[in-house]
Amino acid sequence: MTGNAKIIGTGSYLPERILTNKELEKIVDTSDEWVTTRTGIRTRRIAGAGEKTSQMAARAAQKALDMAGVSAREIDMIIVGTITADMIMPSCACLVQKEIGAENAFAFDISAACSGFVYALEIADRYLKNAPEMKILVIGAETLSARTDWQDRNTCVLFGDGAGACVVTGSNEERGVVASQLYSDGRLWQLLSLDTMPRRYCPVVDYETIPDRNSFCDGSAINMVGKDVFKYAVREMGDAVEGLLHREGIKVEEIDLMIPHQANIRILKSLAERVNLPFEKVYTTIQKYGNSSAASLPIALDEANREGCLKNGDLLLFSVFGGGFTWGVVLFRW
Ligand code: UT7
Repeated sequence: MTGNAKIIGTGSYLPERILTNKELEKIVDTSDEWVTTRTGIRTRRIAGAGEKTSQMAARAAQKALDMAGVSAREIDMIIVGTITADMIMPSCACLVQKEIGAENAFAFDISAACSGFVYALEIADRYLKNAPEMKILVIGAETLSARTDWQDRNTCVLFGDGAGACVVTGSNEERGVVASQLYSDGRLWQLLSLDTMPRRYCPVVDYETIPDRNSFCDGSAINMVGKDVFKYAVREMGDAVEGLLHREGIKVEEIDLMIPHQANIRILKSLAERVNLPFEKVYTTIQKYGNSSAASLPIALDEANREGCLKNGDLLLFSVFGGGFTWGVVLFRW
């Protein structure tokens, strides 16, 4: 049995609070028109008072377990991609383990910003090559609203909160991860960064009064040179997709659906154009949820799955780019 990670259950969790562009107009000097045309984002979800990344991750994980028909006790390993863990120690993954009762698992976090889920999936895939019987929870979860400067219109209109999860196990069929490639370039770290961890957990404020969040948030907020990040994202994701397809001898026409990290609708359109993929084959949730970093891809994957957009045998492409820089691409047979 040669293992490669196949997904047997997906789940996601989105906080109830919907923050609209119109509401943001009251907070910073922006407009619904600017945000919609420049980013594609219309609304985003914001974690409730006291709602933590680990709790959202656990809820998404439980839904993935339910779909897979796997109990938490059967899980061998939990990997969470996140840059907004509840605290530095313990990891978000250990708190998820506690929350869902996955007492037989070992658990750890991956810090790869928006690429966190794909990095985690690649690690799971490598484990499953040696131990295909393992059952692994791969999660992306973020509370970016707690690490956002709500006075900075360059960033605060972009981000949202949420979590997505998958149960993966080894496959001896033609299903699962076909190929993958990860990349990093630490030389460019200053273009997208978050300086310090919070000294205490941030989202404790009444979420009706979002601008007040900063006074509760000890530590810095996300910093981004948006224009440069945009250019690198399109170029590097484009090169990565083309490189992997070429290496595997797969034509872009064979791709049934691309599920990318959701950062900006214009990035996704440029990427699709660059690799000659019709935009109808790109799954997007950016309009509803904004950019939720490591959570965005697994949330989109769960939605696509639950909407019945994924058929057995479909060839999927996962493509991500984020702070670090980190980026990567996965070809996946559903
Ligand atoms: O998830 C990880 C990776 N992250 C990304 O991939 C994000 C990549 N970057 C982007 O998506 C885009 O660069 C942004 C959406 C962040 C910005 O869009 P842009 O088209 O690159 O705009 P810009 O930064 O060049 O700003 C253009 C103008 C500026 O005004 P001036 O200097 O031309 O007068 C900005 O001050 O738009 C202004 N601006 C805004 N105006 C209204 C910036 N943010 C806003 C805003 N509302 N929220």
